[in-house]
Amino acid sequence: MQTTQTPQIPTSSPIGRATPRVDGPLKVCGLAKYTSDFNFPGQLYAVPVEATIANGRIIELHTAAAEKMPGVRAILHRQNIDKIFRSTLGPGFAGICIERRPPFEDDVVSYYGQYVALAVADSFESAKAAADAVVVKYAEEKPNVEKYLEADEDPATVMTSYGPERRLQSERGDAAAAFASAPVKHDQTYVTPAETHNPIELQGTTAMWDGDNLTIYEESQGVFNMRGVLAQMFGLPKENVRVITKFVGSGFGSKLWPWTHCPLAVAAARQLGKPVKLVLSRKMTFQSAGHRALTQQRVRLGATAEGKLVSLQHDYVYHRSMLDDYHENCGEATSFHYSVPNLRVEFGRARRNIGTPSDMRGPGAVPGLYATESAMNELADQLKIDPVRLRVLNEPNIDEGKGILFSSRHYIECLEQGMEKFGWSKRNPEIGSMKRDGQTLGWGMAGAAWIAARFAAAANVELRDDGTARVACGTQDIGTGTYTILAQLTSQRTGVPLEKVEVALGDTSLPEGPISGGSMVTGSVVPAVFAAADGAIASLLTIAATTPGSPFEKRNPDELSFENGRVFVKAGHTGGGVPFADLLRRANIRLVTGNGKSEATFGNPKPKFSTHSFGCHFVEVTWQPEIARLRVSRVVTVMDAGRILNPLAGRNQIEGAVVMGIGMALLEHTTYDPQNGAPINSNLADYIVAVNADSPPIEVHFLDYPDKEINELGARGIGEIGLAGFAAAVTAAVHHATGVRVRELPVKIENLLA
Ligand code: MOS
Repeated sequence: MQTTQTPQIPTSSPIGRATPRVDGPLKVCGLAKYTSDFNFPGQLYAVPVEATIANGRIIELHTAAAEKMPGVRAILHRQNIDKIFRSTLGPGFAGICIERRPPFEDDVVSYYGQYVALAVADSFESAKAAADAVVVKYAEEKPNVEKYLEADEDPATVMTSYGPERRLQSERGDAAAAFASAPVKHDQTYVTPAETHNPIELQGTTAMWDGDNLTIYEESQGVFNMRGVLAQMFGLPKENVRVITKFVGSGFGSKLWPWTHCPLAVAAARQLGKPVKLVLSRKMTFQSAGHRALTQQRVRLGATAEGKLVSLQHDYVYHRSMLDDYHENCGEATSFHYSVPNLRVEFGRARRNIGTPSDMRGPGAVPGLYATESAMNELADQLKIDPVRLRVLNEPNIDEGKGILFSSRHYIECLEQGMEKFGWSKRNPEIGSMKRDGQTLGWGMAGAAWIAARFAAAANVELRDDGTARVACGTQDIGTGTYTILAQLTSQRTGVPLEKVEVALGDTSLPEGPISGGSMVTGSVVPAVFAAADGAIASLLTIAATTPGSPFEKRNPDELSFENGRVFVKAGHTGGGVPFADLLRRANIRLVTGNGKSEATFGNPKPKFSTHSFGCHFVEVTWQPEIARLRVSRVVTVMDAGRILNPLAGRNQIEGAVVMGIGMALLEHTTYDPQNGAPINSNLADYIVAVNADSPPIEVHFLDYPDKEINELGARGIGEIGLAGFAAAVTAAVHHATGVRVRELPVKIENLLA
């Protein structure tokens, strides 16, 4: 009988290893080329003219003086710009564009900062001076930027940027009746302000034409979607459009979908026959490149005296622009997060004279969980039971919204671990009772959830005769570590050491990869990369078995195996195998290649399992009433996000989200001037984000349970969930320290002085 000997298994798999960014050296040496670092011969610069009203019409536009300025090539506007078509929603992620009105389509101005003309010149300075010299006269009407919202439509189904949505989003039992008869009731409204993404790298486009072929460099979170939209706007076959995004200086959702500057740069390049670069100012990004919608959410909870939920009603309204139908899905997690027999989730919308809102880190769920988790904390206080215990009491066995099992849910274990690591048992629930070094402490907690699913993905893997590998996937690395994950996956499957794996991404000439959105890239690319690597290995084994002089000549490829970069005879072999590079060189073949694909699970109308990530935050604040100083002083976050492929990158994502959560809870808001509708704090001096000085020690723990429903490694992906629920934990801690309930973010010092 033959025995099968197991070839040497790699001692340390790259999966699950804390792996520093493979692109780190390029970034710290300044060699990573971001979009605006690319320059082309003859390139022109474009600067848009921004409307200074938020509601009205253009009645005069004077460009003659600007046109005569030195270096100016053109002032483009409604009367002289060549055709830009309106894009339509394509299948999947082939045509999402949140502001669908092409720039300059008519003379209507519906938000402050809307582009009304475009100056194009030989230098940025000349273009800026010319843009400033364009004189626009408006017939102005009073803008509606009213903060508090009343839903302005009520059909049962509304059209959104992603397709139709039922306004009654989820319902079971009779929530109103159960609320009416509940022994304990909570009924409050929570408000989250507009927030602006503020990635450090500004949005920008460099566009160039070669006949009917268009190439653009744009820091996009979805190059294929952008290609689809531009093909429609310029009436081109998709294959004529190439979108390139090598590095992204973060996005947080603001770069998911194309904004109007992009077709303007493309149109200018077409009309002037030269490459055109257009980079937004920080101020412009507040006006015309998306923001998190303002939300107003009424949450009604009914419970028994013991704390069992009997009714949950979540009614939310969000603002949108005059031009778009963006949907802020605050009810994303409501229907499954807790067990409750009677539930109703419904939404409404209100139009405002503002730029178009769009997805921002954890869209929907982040403002939604702020409201519902705050309500849970308030209910716990009302019941005089521990907020963790309230959650444990209402842990569901299944996803009650869909009536199916969870693929992997360890929420209670997150809570238990969080309590232990934080020292929650020492919490005295009495307000203002806990002190340290003369400061008052507040301890609060909240739960988190976020979608886990796969987008469709395709990848290509090459094994080369110098022992290196290349993986190609047209997804993007938005700073989250996708270069590194693709290298880790390829290394795992091929045995090629990480440093010998070349990664190509961010280009529509590569196999179609997923959008960098929804924290889904990692989970989506695993099956595609593994299948591609397996394809390359299969070709290699055929070559090994058919090359004259190969040590495996005359073997059937089925008799061969590939482990850790080497080829073996499956049965009865004794040696150490032959490195694949030797086999390729002997055959005089530079490389073998394989393609792989994975199907989407996102949007599946009939899923077998409910797939989500879960987690919780425990937060300490310190409060010094004498000097009105409030600080987040300690954070413990526990995440159940499937198997963590790279704990270093994973931790970094959660830490970043927590810092953003401190900003959301205490600092960030985009506020519109009631006079002219302008975002008034449209710069990084007045729009305050949390910085190092605001960031306390952040402890991050992962449970690391593989979720095999997502992919064979069980990796779900992380990025957004770290922000979900965080603000509710902070406001609970603030209440514990000060006795003040803040239900409108951000918490302001003046709220606490009342
Ligand atoms: Mo995220 S808002 O899906 O970039």
